[in-house]
Amino acid sequence: MVDVDISGAEAFFTKAGPDYADAAQAHRTLTDATGEGAEYTGWLQLPQKIKENELHQILNAAQKIRSRSGALVVIGIGGSYLGAKGAVELLQPVPGKGNPKIFFVGNGLSVDYINQVLDEVRDTDFDVNVISKSGTTLEPAVAFRIFRSLLKEKYGANARKHIIATTDASRGVLRTLASEENWESFVIPDDVGGRYSVLSAVGLLPMAVAGIDIKAVLGGAIEEFSSLDSRSPSNPAWKYAATRQHLYRQGRTIEFLASYEPSFRYMAEWWKQLFGESEGKGGIGIFPAYVEYSADLHSMGQYIQDGPRVLMETVVEFAASQTRLSVPFEMGNPDRLNYLAGWDMDDICKTAAKAVRNAHISGNVPNLRITVPQRNEEGLGALFAFFELSCAISAYMSGVNPFNQPGVEAYKRNMFRMLGKPFEPTGSRR
Ligand code: PA5
Repeated sequence: MVDVDISGAEAFFTKAGPDYADAAQAHRTLTDATGEGAEYTGWLQLPQKIKENELHQILNAAQKIRSRSGALVVIGIGGSYLGAKGAVELLQPVPGKGNPKIFFVGNGLSVDYINQVLDEVRDTDFDVNVISKSGTTLEPAVAFRIFRSLLKEKYGANARKHIIATTDASRGVLRTLASEENWESFVIPDDVGGRYSVLSAVGLLPMAVAGIDIKAVLGGAIEEFSSLDSRSPSNPAWKYAATRQHLYRQGRTIEFLASYEPSFRYMAEWWKQLFGESEGKGGIGIFPAYVEYSADLHSMGQYIQDGPRVLMETVVEFAASQTRLSVPFEMGNPDRLNYLAGWDMDDICKTAAKAVRNAHISGNVPNLRITVPQRNEEGLGALFAFFELSCAISAYMSGVNPFNQPGVEAYKRNMFRMLGKPFEPTGSRR
């Protein structure tokens, strides 16, 4: 289970401390479905309610791709790709022997990047998993048209067998196309928004293709959701949500997540979207940022230690490393490092982490620690569940709807007008 240690933040609390009564109320609002956006709380039951036949279909599709293709191109943006990318980077940063390469496109508009991926897959067998709930998002839609055209060039009439669509059950152009073209497809449930969808086919199919044991991920999430159902200030989700809200109210407007694992980088991107899009609205919200230690101590360390005191730091740690590696002894001690000879690298890392924590606390940066037992499937599932629940509680505590994103539309309106998109009446399916 995910553990939260707030002892490094306590010195920064007011006498009242984190408001656990408010956390309890927010938790009730969420689970009783009485708050704004209650129609989008289906993610709370995603892992336990996934149907056996859907899980089978996902595993079969993944097996088919793994056995016949050298690559899977996952097309999606925001909540339609970050969770899967975070999972793959965390657990399979380098594809294992025989595993297809996973490419993520449609999450930007860079022509050079698209061309680079086209070049990578042109001479290999590949499949496409296009993921879009609305089916209308420009970036994935354009990328899909481009990769569809390559599939047609490569496989002719059989191109359709290399496309899997993950989209709404009945609405949107992608669903219409999937039905007309007879593509295999998966459903993003109506009551689950993009950034909370990682434990549906949205995240599970790419993970399974990458060789991640998705049953174990779901198992980790089920266990975590169940233990986080406890209604008590010792609930780690309450501790995290209530502490960050308490600190925010005292001017800590920026929370940076930190990790000592380079493979955590895209999990942090997923976390940034989850919290940024859920909380940043109506003129309020903690700004979520990420730093990678110890690398960023040599670039951002100065600012963290000594810049404006508006920061709070949340460090994600894995209790046990998966491998061991000790520093060798060297005769003559030419580099003066023999004082570390025999130390395991993970022990050096954990010692450095303690030193950093103490320095930051004494530099007036409240510190929270989130510990996950292991960097494995169960740990990954637990992290998804923990952050989703904490985020919804925290957003309700701050008085906003955690499940909408009205601000995202502004750039789209401008962009579509400037690109000359024809007007489509509301409710149009094409
Ligand atoms: O959290 C969200 O809802 C967004 O990040 C969406 O996932 C993102 O904008 C992509 O939308 P869609 O899946 O409709 O293409």
